[in-house]
Amino acid sequence: MKVTILMGSQRPKGHSAQLVQYIKGKMPDAEFTEFQTRKMSIKHCIACDKCLELQGSCVLKDDEMHTVYRSLEACDALIIVSPVYFSAFPSPLKTLIDRCQMFYNLKDRSHIPDKKVLLVEIGGARHYKNQFVANYCITEWMLEDINGKLVADIGIPNTDRIPALENTEKMALLDEAIEKLKE
Ligand SMILES: Cc1cc2nc3c(=O)[nH]c(=O)nc-3n(C[C@H](O)[C@H](O)[C@H](O)COP(=O)(O)O)c2cc1C
Repeated sequence: MKVTILMGSQRPKGHSAQLVQYIKGKMPDAEFTEFQTRKMSIKHCIACDKCLELQGSCVLKDDEMHTVYRSLEACDALIIVSPVYFSAFPSPLKTLIDRCQMFYNLKDRSHIPDKKVLLVEIGGARHYKNQFVANYCITEWMLEDINGKLVADIGIPNTDRIPALENTEKMALLDEAIEKLKE
C-alpha cells in the first residue's frame, strides 16, 4: 500500500511530527512518501490556467511540486497531519494545496486511483468553535480532485497543555482511523 504523507508543521519534532512517526509505526507494511512542507520549495500558484491546456502538468517547472503530483497520483492513501495557524493550514501546506489546481483542471482523472484520506489537525488552544473547520473544508474540496475519500478528520486541541500523543480519547480515534485506512 502506497501512502503519501503531507506534514504541515514548521517544527521538526513537534506534535505533528510525533504523530507521523506514530502512524508509520502502526502501518509497518505500508510504503511511505513523506513531504514535510517546511523543508520544501514550492512556488505559489499564479492562476495562469495553463494547466487547463497542459492537462496533467504545471508551467512552474523548477520546484518540488512535480514530485508531489506524481505521489498524489500514485498513492492508495493520503495522510495530512498539520497544526492550525489562525485556524487554517500553515501557509507552506496551503501553497502546496493551491498547486493542486492542476488536478482540479484535469478533464480525465481516471488514471488516479481511488484513495482513502486521513486528516489529523493539531491546535495549541483549548477547543473553540470552528478551530478545525477551515482545514476540513479545504481538504474535502481538494480531495475530490484526486479521487480521495475522507475516512476521518481528527482535530486534537489543547496541545499547549496536553501533548497530542497523551490525548487518549483522540489517540483512540486515530487508532480506529488507521485501521480503516488499512482495510
Ligand atoms: C503562527 C501560529 C498560529 C497559531 N494559530 C493557532 C490557532 O489559530 N489555533 C490554535 O488552536 N492553535 C494555534 N497555534 C498553536 C499551534 O497549533 C500549536 O502550537 C500546535 O501544537 C503546533 O503543532 P506542531 O507541534 O505540530 O508544530 C498557532 C501557532 C502558530 C506558530
